[in-house]
Amino acid sequence: MAEQAKERNPGCTGCEEASEEELLRRLDEVIANYKTRPGALIPVLQMAQGIFGYLPEVALKRIARGLGKSYSEVAGVVSFYSFFSTVPRGRNLIRVCLGTACYVRGGMKVLEALKKHLGIDVGETTPDREFSLEVARCFGACGLSPVITINDNVHHRVKPTRVAEVLAQYASNDGPQDQVVRADEVQATTEGLEVPRPGGEVIADEAPVGPSEAVSAGAGERRV
Ligand code: FES
Repeated sequence: MAEQAKERNPGCTGCEEASEEELLRRLDEVIANYKTRPGALIPVLQMAQGIFGYLPEVALKRIARGLGKSYSEVAGVVSFYSFFSTVPRGRNLIRVCLGTACYVRGGMKVLEALKKHLGIDVGETTPDREFSLEVARCFGACGLSPVITINDNVHHRVKPTRVAEVLAQYASNDGPQDQVVRADEVQATTEGLEVPRPGGEVIADEAPVGPSEAVSAGAGERRV
């Protein structure tokens, strides 16, 4: 467990061993804090994923019992939102946008290139636990499509021929050298976009960045 924490955050000097018992104790504290609040399930799941790194079955059962819900209800919520994962993720989480603008502008080709390069399918993690691959629906940066996120960084106008180059930047601890935007800094860029028509390719390029709300690639995003 401690080794996994250090792998995820090599600079961390405080990633001490935490047994499952200790992690469950932390989860119990979270449940106790939230159990009387309305709509507690999603924040508790988010906290649990922060504690474990993913959502193991033992945690889901604990949450169901603690919040007085059925296991199937809890598991259903977890499977509904792409943010949640019931399997350990890799050190770097790649999410490919398959929203309409990104799809029309080649998002699927980018996804295929990533799958081929990594040798994994959507929802899987590379054997060395370096990369996990997921899909998502619209990060609110449609004017910069096709868009992918890697961890908290947004890579825009990604070309299938460049995926190896992009991923190589995450092989070192130096982080991306590309011009990237932090996910929490992305502003909706749909203004000025023409609505893509079925079978058409009508999307204006270089759409202006709008002042709309920042994008959250969090639990509010449904699986596509
Ligand atoms: S459709 Fe991909 S960012 Fe909006």
